[in-house]
Amino acid sequence: MFAKKTVRDVEVRGKRVLVRVDFNVPLADGIVTDDTRIRAALPTIRYLIDHGARVILVSHLGRPKGAPDPAFSLRPVRAVLAQLLGRNVHFIGSVVGPDVTTAVERMVDGEVVMLENLRFEPGEKANDPAFARQLAALADIYVDDAFGAAHRAHASTEGVTHYLPAYAGMLLAREVETLSAMLADPARPFAAILGGSKVSDKFGVIDRLLDVVDTLIVGGGMCFTFLAAKGVDIGTSIVEAEWVEPAKKMLDKASERGVGLLLPVDFVVADRFAEDAECRIVGREEIPGDWMGLDIGPTTIELFKTAISDARTIFWNGPMGVFEMKPYQAGTREVALAVARNSRAVSVVGGGDSVAALKKFDLEERVTFVSTGGGASMKLLEGAPLPGVEALLDQDS
Ligand code: 3PG
Repeated sequence: MFAKKTVRDVEVRGKRVLVRVDFNVPLADGIVTDDTRIRAALPTIRYLIDHGARVILVSHLGRPKGAPDPAFSLRPVRAVLAQLLGRNVHFIGSVVGPDVTTAVERMVDGEVVMLENLRFEPGEKANDPAFARQLAALADIYVDDAFGAAHRAHASTEGVTHYLPAYAGMLLAREVETLSAMLADPARPFAAILGGSKVSDKFGVIDRLLDVVDTLIVGGGMCFTFLAAKGVDIGTSIVEAEWVEPAKKMLDKASERGVGLLLPVDFVVADRFAEDAECRIVGREEIPGDWMGLDIGPTTIELFKTAISDARTIFWNGPMGVFEMKPYQAGTREVALAVARNSRAVSVVGGGDSVAALKKFDLEERVTFVSTGGGASMKLLEGAPLPGVEALLDQDS
């Protein structure tokens, strides 16, 4: 059970509620190209509107350098949110200061105001207490629904909780509950699929998952570091030399714990990293010295699909190959399809690239849960404390 108080545990009517959301969405030419994170925050925002709260939304967007920068304005997000909510969202072009204070003073019950990008203020990332107090002064209650930013101890995720009673939003609660339950009490067999280019990013997660899963499937660029650890000649494929030894330890841990660790047995290899490169399928022992693996091969796809269809709990993070390029997308597509087709399993997908792959192949609706948190979900799975969650009021307080 979720151990923190949620927005449902407090009377919000007539109160000014500072809601930290994660509207860090991709923009192209000032247009939001993926509104998933905005949609994910709607239940909490709607709940607050319906219960007569005065909703003050704050978020970061991108990584501006602690000063206003129009390229990172949240203004385009306001328009999308207003459309999704079907109501007006009042935008203030600053985070603190007289304009904000006046706008908040004028709010009526059920109204929504959105402030500018928190990271335009240097105090946000520095978790400056003075800035946190300024944010807190705007409201009576704080609600954190920014699961994607929960691994950051910033003024709006941690600092502010020292000055306002702090509750979880519905998205944050659901994310933590789903990911925690998957680790604590998974239906078996439990198969985790990890991909993406770097072992270094996911080492903590691999270590933790090996304590829990029955099968660990490793594809994507990171598999070459594991293959190097097994002494396979990987040609010019991506490898993290300093992670070969740690990868060996993980291979040993998997065999000690009786976890089936599945590595690719064949690849689509190319003579260079390009969509129009010459490419062919080879067994993993036959990668030519000056070629690189850019996707898993057909025999591997079948091997992985079998393990995925046998599972009753599936966690997937990271693509199997360079799926942005057509010749190397079959592995990721087939894995995504296998996850989607296994309707008997609880399937959880986390991390930007695997979520992007699900969307690309139009399979997003066919998995049990898609996490909105990349770094945050990885930290949670590693077992690291999330400052944005730790700081909230305990259920029994
Ligand atoms: C994310 O996209 O992972 C979150 O919004 C956090 O963003 P950050 O890595 O810039 O803190």
